[in-house]
Amino acid sequence: MQTIRVETPSAKYDVIAGSGLVDTLAPRIERVVGRLPQRVFVLTSAPIWALWGHSFQQSFPDAPIVLFLEPGEKHKTLASVDRLLREMAKAGGDRGSLLIAFGGGIVGDVGGFLAAIYMRGISYLQVPTTFLAQVDSSVGGKTGVNLAEGKNLVGSFHHPLAVFADIGALGTLPDRELHAGLMESVKAGIIRDRALVRFMEEHVDEVLGRDAKALEKVIAASIRMKAAVVNKDERENGLRMILNLGHTVGHALEQATQYKLLLHGEAVGWGMVAALWLARKRGTISGSQFERLENLIHLYGPLPPLKLRAAKIVAATGSDKKNVGGVKRFVLPVGIGDAGVVEDVMPAELEAAVEYMLAGAKEKQS
Ligand SMILES: NC(=O)c1ccc[n+]([C@@H]2O[C@H](COP(=O)([O-])OP(=O)(O)OC[C@H]3O[C@@H](n4cnc5c(N)ncnc54)[C@H](O)[C@@H]3O)[C@@H](O)[C@H]2O)c1
Ligand SMILES: [Zn+2]
Repeated sequence: MQTIRVETPSAKYDVIAGSGLVDTLAPRIERVVGRLPQRVFVLTSAPIWALWGHSFQQSFPDAPIVLFLEPGEKHKTLASVDRLLREMAKAGGDRGSLLIAFGGGIVGDVGGFLAAIYMRGISYLQVPTTFLAQVDSSVGGKTGVNLAEGKNLVGSFHHPLAVFADIGALGTLPDRELHAGLMESVKAGIIRDRALVRFMEEHVDEVLGRDAKALEKVIAASIRMKAAVVNKDERENGLRMILNLGHTVGHALEQATQYKLLLHGEAVGWGMVAALWLARKRGTISGSQFERLENLIHLYGPLPPLKLRAAKIVAATGSDKKNVGGVKRFVLPVGIGDAGVVEDVMPAELEAAVEYMLAGAKEKQS
């Protein structure tokens, strides 16, 4: 079990990563909030509840009120939020109520947003059940939903009172989801943690075989990296930008494939390949570092093949909402364990990086 502290100007809380958390939640929550409030809501989705609901309920003296969000990005909407807020009101939710988001990143983002706006804000906890949610989305306080016009366009910063990341809950996660989530850990290592890069290189079989100790190590290191960055820059004014390594091209790939072909982590994996290529070309990483890091990405693959044109992907990066003032901001690794942001990446240079990535993505097919 490892405890990682998040301390920002607006919130201080612990992220606990380890085994055996889901079935011992109630006493752990009481240690954080004092007595459990009269109404405890759980937001989850039916498949997760079918697998883990029984364990979840075990430690609660009174059954929590369960709210369901249908799985899938297309339900991460204001319409779902409206329905769920009304269900909370009908069930007598008040300002003292507590909400627990129990699921992947979608449940976490919607749950956090409900907690941010119900009666102008109630307390909540994150109990993430996907690898991605454990290492990334449950930490940092970003909550929200999608609009038809784009992903995550509506939301709020609202930090949980605590995060309980139960490694045991990953036991039922499909392989593809695990591999995709691991790309965020590869990213964490590349931008901030050489030791994590080495550990992931040396323990591929244990990590992919879901050995609890190896997973705990990777998850805790990834959370520690994110917490350290968020502690310094809660609102993404500067340093937090580096968390976007691989995400400029990654988001473009997701968009160009209508969010259907690739999981987020897979798109980020390919996006990191493009970023590594640019970094090597600009000399912020050496040829051997490039090979080592590209290899690491593929060790945790396979990344799906891509049949796209480079120009289309480059065009799609233009609509990345993280581009400030039309400048293409781009995160590049600096050696192994550091990264920086550059603002002068020209479309032709980016296109060459994307061509390199696509050539690799084609090879995968044959
Ligand atoms: N708030 C943030 O800072 C932040 C950061 C990164 C991503 N996100 C958001 O996170 C979302 C993606 O999250 P995700 O990758 O967890 O996807 P997800 O929430 O869709 O979960 C993936 C799938 O796994 C299933 N699942 C969840 N836990 C399971 C378990 N233990 N066993 C079996 N199946 C399980 C889910 O039902 C779902 O089908 C996106 O909406 C993204 O925008 C937010
Ligand atoms: Zn990401």
